[in-house]
Amino acid sequence: MIVNGKPTRTIWLGDNGESVEIIDQTRLPHEYIVARLDTLADAERAIFDMQVRGAPLIGATAAYGMALAMRDDASDAGLENAYKVLYATRPTAVNLRWALDDLKGLLSSLPPDQRQAAAYARAAEICDQDVEICSSLGEHGRGVIEKIWNDKGKPERINVLTHCNAGWLATVDWGTALAPVYKAHDAGIPVHIWVDETRPRNQGASLTCWELGQHGVPHTLIVDNVGGHLMQHGMVDVVITGTDRTTAAGDVCNKIGTYLKALAAFDNDVPFYVGLPGPTIDWTIKDGVRDVPIEERDPGEVTRLVGLSDDGRIETVTISPKDSPAANFAFDVTPARLVTGLITERGVAEASEEGLAALYPEHQ
Ligand code: MRU
Repeated sequence: MIVNGKPTRTIWLGDNGESVEIIDQTRLPHEYIVARLDTLADAERAIFDMQVRGAPLIGATAAYGMALAMRDDASDAGLENAYKVLYATRPTAVNLRWALDDLKGLLSSLPPDQRQAAAYARAAEICDQDVEICSSLGEHGRGVIEKIWNDKGKPERINVLTHCNAGWLATVDWGTALAPVYKAHDAGIPVHIWVDETRPRNQGASLTCWELGQHGVPHTLIVDNVGGHLMQHGMVDVVITGTDRTTAAGDVCNKIGTYLKALAAFDNDVPFYVGLPGPTIDWTIKDGVRDVPIEERDPGEVTRLVGLSDDGRIETVTISPKDSPAANFAFDVTPARLVTGLITERGVAEASEEGLAALYPEHQ
């Protein structure tokens, strides 16, 4: 995607060929800062502190984290330790496990002196593959948006509601929920995006608005509770979100609040689509509510807000009484029955075991 007029990915290899560079997403939209990762601990911190976030980008960073770890210790013990450290960073996005299993499988079959080069090469491949996958799912999703627009008689604007950030900042490039939006916009379809602010960390307000703005896509920021009202008044044509883990039966686990949007969409006959790359499917589970581990984060993210003060300083303010306890569940599960379709790199699947199996027969 374009940042300040320049094609940019969210993660890349530095000029020395070994450091890894990322966009520090904790500083957006107020500051655009590139951070450098040199060690396993740097990669661990980047994922844990959410300098990088979004399921596919977490996977890509973990892959490079393994490569950074191999620079310091390419022994079997070093490999095990790197896997363990990175695996513990965030529990919900299954792309993390997918990337780590991939790297571990490859590296453990090689002698230690070949592991570093192989890890860097594989991490780069995973990044390139993510770009290809997201671009392709974007094409399929563009078809979904175009059909809805055509079926409605090509209105002046087609309104898409999205939650959190499932744009290019959540992947290596293109995004999942937003890839179809970029492709539709670039094809001349007049998309307008309702962006849920997405409390508590406000990834919609800070990240989705920023990246849509960089690409020139018309959008409007709304608070999290507005979607139902907009749907009742015919102001949403389609909801598209991402997912951190999709079960083999088509349940989707995404940023907290996604489920409520799906319920409102169901009640108002608004199609609810989810964009996902194949590596976000967890083929080992079916029942999302029961089996997906839900991350619980620091309650301070609920009781405090970070923003830009009128005199240009980034500040943190407290919004609740000092002694009130808070809970911070970061994800929820939307059952497959509420999902109109799963937009993947292989096409649009029905959200069901049969639908996914038809697109990914190799997992049967
Ligand atoms: O906590 P985050 O910011 O990592 O959550 C991100 C999301 O919920 C995205 O919707 C999800 O990772 C799908 S991404 C392309």
